[in-house]
Order: sequence, then structure tokens, then C-alpha cells
Amino acid sequence: GDAAGDGGGFARVGDIVHEGLRNLEYRGYDSAGVALVGEASGLTVAKRSGEVDNLTVPDVADAALGVGHTRWSTHGPPTDANAHPHTDCTGDVAVVHNGIVENHEALKAELADHEFTSDTDTEVIPHLIEEELAAQRGEGDLLNAVRAVEDRLEGSYAICAVREGEDEIVVARRGSPLVLGRDDDATFVASDVTAFLEHTRDVTYLEDGDVAALSADGVEIYADGESVDRGTETVTWEADAAEKGGYEHYMRKEIHEQPEALRQTIAGRLDVDGGGVDLDVSFPPGFLADLEEIQIVACGTSNYAGRYAARLFEELSGVRATVEIASEYEFGAGRSPDRTLVVAVTQSGETADTLGAVRRANAAGARTFAVTNTLGSTVTREVDDTAFIRAGPEIGVAATKTFASQVATLTMLAVAIGRERGALAAADARPVLEGLRDLPGAVQQVLDNEDAVREAATEYGDSGAFFFVGRQLGVPVALEGALKLKEISYDHAEGFAAGELKHGPLALVTPDTPVLAVLTDGARADETMNNVTEAQTRGAPAIGCVSAGEEYATLDVSLPVPDVGLVEPLVANVYLQLFAYHVANDKGRSIDKPRNLAKSVTVE
Ligand code: F6R
Repeated sequence: GDAAGDGGGFARVGDIVHEGLRNLEYRGYDSAGVALVGEASGLTVAKRSGEVDNLTVPDVADAALGVGHTRWSTHGPPTDANAHPHTDCTGDVAVVHNGIVENHEALKAELADHEFTSDTDTEVIPHLIEEELAAQRGEGDLLNAVRAVEDRLEGSYAICAVREGEDEIVVARRGSPLVLGRDDDATFVASDVTAFLEHTRDVTYLEDGDVAALSADGVEIYADGESVDRGTETVTWEADAAEKGGYEHYMRKEIHEQPEALRQTIAGRLDVDGGGVDLDVSFPPGFLADLEEIQIVACGTSNYAGRYAARLFEELSGVRATVEIASEYEFGAGRSPDRTLVVAVTQSGETADTLGAVRRANAAGARTFAVTNTLGSTVTREVDDTAFIRAGPEIGVAATKTFASQVATLTMLAVAIGRERGALAAADARPVLEGLRDLPGAVQQVLDNEDAVREAATEYGDSGAFFFVGRQLGVPVALEGALKLKEISYDHAEGFAAGELKHGPLALVTPDTPVLAVLTDGARADETMNNVTEAQTRGAPAIGCVSAGEEYATLDVSLPVPDVGLVEPLVANVYLQLFAYHVANDKGRSIDKPRNLAKSVTVE
């Protein structure tokens, strides 16, 4: 999150920014920093890894403006050097930034004569500003420099910049939120109103493409070079609701954040036309060509993401893939460690069972790989390579957006390995990459249809038990749908491979046990529907997530899933998340902190 304050009784500026960062800490909390600007003192920067309270904000008596940042790492581990603000070579310009600069490597190459001190994508921004100011030869100012630099940045981001000798904060929004606030003697900007809610409730939301200059006197907003008026709104939320973006629970907020999370997951990584993927990992020469087996180890929801991925690894990279519950994993006989890749999938990177499996794999001599949301987490220090899912912090105990981002990341990994081994032609990779590219929009369409799921939840929520079925890629989604429901509603729910219903579970089916089915591409929809009909014959109501354009007339509720190929079951999963949420919410459950569960399970 960004927080910045401008003006208002000098010595307070550092405190206001620090307090704003504390208010934003729920958005990410691995490092924090501030930059303060005063007429005599110039630019003062302080930053460090760790919680916001670890940061000592310097006492700059004449500070008239300041910017601050609390970080959830996407590029580079949470170290002091990687914390924001970042500065240029002259030390005159400081920048804080949310989001991702997709072309940062290319830009860094263009800035070959600049010295960089961090591993972040952000650091190119102050250096580009420096270059721009130099090109403008003393005539230039920060506002014009930021405008010019924006033309060179690709990606989605929000930035705040300050410069020694200037009495304005310059901000720019493209894809990541920025909101302005104004009280009697100060002007504020932040990624979220919670940062400054105690100072003012009168806010202005910037729009994509806007650039603004803030001073103690007020704000000028520009769009396409023209000054614009974005109006003012009064926020009526209390801080607690504002943190949840107005949603009653983090879980529902995080379900709704999935399009944005997925956009970050795929940002800069897909080459749809070329049929390629860049996950910024490199295997030793010959390793992939000789690869015999991919073993995925994970727990709970991450295990289901792994089950989804295992099928894709086999299909797209032509390598045998197995999935094990991490606590059950042993390297096993009959395998060659140097021809095995062990992929640990763990949102937190701290799950003890998963770390145990990684240690057993390392001890056996296999190559290990982590797919995680958390830079600097334990797992990243113990594996050979890591791919980050970039979903942003997830606070609800029940995993939602991290599951989607894990599956998307693993799908990219499967394509990358398949391409590098020569097992997947560019023409065959392309439709998969198109599906990934279209995934955020497809998930948004499902979210826009939330009312239909809410109605189904109200109608069937009081049933005796719930069964979730699917085939192929629909199986992990069925298992995940059942896990979500049992975790937060405490109802009995089970997921099955649809074909297995008739081999036993069908005995449990009654008119009081709704069946929820994944009936999309990648999930053998017609065959699954036959099994659903078997349950319906025993009186069970049936709710189906169905590929757009298909129709199963006998379903009691039909929820359309946009056409995105192999990732369609992943989109269907969003309906199941919403179903679990609304069933649990109707029952007044403790959704963000279900009984007996913890977000990060650090015991075996
Ligand atoms: C379920 C859930 C858990 C986790 C599991 C693994 O909603 O969140 O099942 O998926 O505890 O956690 P990570 O991914 O952190 O290893």
C-alpha cells in the first residue's frame, strides 16, 4: 500500500505517513519505508524489512511532504534494500509503487549507466525520472518527468514520487487504485482510504491514466495532459469495513479480487503469439530433456491446485506427474532422483508438512521447486527454484484467490516445461495461453453472476449434506468446492470423481443432498452429467457449472462458465467459492476465522 501526506504543521508529516502505513498494514507487511521532504532538510529516506512498527521514522522538523509504503513483495525478497521508497543515482528523487512494471528488465538494460541497489522492478522508475529530468536540462519538473516516464512503463501500477526542492507529490494511476483526500490543512493520497480515514472522509478516486500533483494547497489532476475534475465522495464506511473494501468479510473481498490477482499472476509472463511463457526460472542444461517424473507435494487447497496441475503437466509437458499429500510423501523406490522434479505448492511457504516433504525430497537428491505467494518464506530458502504466484496477501483463512493464482502459475510452468522439452508445439501452447490471458475476464463474468449463486445457496443451504462431482480437471475442483463448504459452513460436504458415485457414495444420496457438478471443458461434461442424473433419479437436486452455450435441461440450477478451455474448471470453482460463502453467511458463521483452523499451519 502507498500512503502519503502533504502539508499540515511540519513535524506531523512523518507521523501522519507512519500512522497511514499502520492502517494499511493488512494489505502486506514484509517491509516498510518513508521519504520525507523539507525545504532545508531536503530528501530523507528510511526503510527496512519487517513490520511497520519496526520502522523508525526520522524526526525531520521541516518536513512538508512525505510518502510511505508497506510492501508485499513481488520482485526480490523482503530485505532492507528492496523496501520502498526507491531513489535515483542523485538521491534527489524517491518513489513508492504498487503493482508490477512488466518491462523492468528491458528498461534496466536501457539504463546501463545507472547503479541499481535492489532486485525490485520499482527501482527503474526513479532512475527513469532522473534521466527525464536531466533531458529537460533544469527546465523540467517532477510532474512532467513522471508523465514522460509513464509512456515507457508497461504493466499495472500506482506510483507516488517526491523530489528534493519541489513542494509537490506527483502520483500516477494505471491499474492499481489511488484515492485522494483533503482536510483543512493537508492533502492525502493512498492506495486505500483506510490510510487516512481519521483525517478526512471526503475523497476523490483517481481513474486509470490519471496523473496528479498534490501540495498543501490542494490537488491538480490531469488526464491526457488536460486538467480534469474527478469530483468528491464522502466515505461512510468505518475503518474495519473499509479494510474489507466495503465487503463484510475478507473472504468475499478476496473472491472478488481474483480477476486482479490473476492479472498480476500472468503479468509479463505470457507470450501468446509466440506460444511461450517466461517464469524467470532456468533449469540446468539437459535436466528437462531427461526428466522422468514431476512429483507435486502440498496440503489442503494447495494439494487440489497440485492435482489440477498434475493433469496439465502430463498433457502439456509430456512428463509423468504424481501428486501426494505432503505429510504422506516419501521419495519412493524405483525413481531416479536426478531425473525427478519435486514441486511444492504452498501459499504461505511455511506449512510444516510441506517443508517436511521438501526436506525428504532434498535428502533423496531430487531437484526441488516451490510455487508460493510469499517471498522470503522458508520454502523459498530450501528449494532450488521458485515461481511466485503474486496473488497479494490473503487474510481469510479459507484459501480462494491463492488457489486460482496457484493453478494459473502451475499451468504456465507446465507450458514452459513442455515448450523447453520440445514436447509442446507453439500452436498447441497458444490456446492454453489464450485461456490464461482471458481468465481474469472470465472470472469477472462469474462474479457478476453472484446473485444466481446466492439464490441457490439460500434455496439449498439447509440440506443434510452436499456432494461435489466432476471428472478430470473437474475432480480437484469438486474436492476444493467441498473443502471450502465444510471449512466455513461446518456442513458435511464431500467431493468425488463423478464416476465413483455409483461405486458407493450413491447410497448417501437423498432429496436432502444437493449435488454440485463441474460440467465444463476439461471435465468430461457429458459423462459427468450421466452421473448427476443417477443422483437426480434418487431425488437429489442438481446444480451445474456449465460451459457457456451448452445446456443440460434437467439441472435445477445452471451456472454459465465462459469459454476458456483447460482453465474452465478453475472458473467454475469461483461459483463453488461463492456458494460456500453464501451458505456459511446465511448461517452466520465466522467466515474469516473458522473454528479450529489457522491460516498458516506450522506444526506437523
Ligand atoms: C483451505 C486452506 C488450507 C491450505 C493448507 C496449505 O482453505 O487454506 O487447506 O491450503 O493449509 O497451506 P499452504 O498453501 O500455505 O501450504
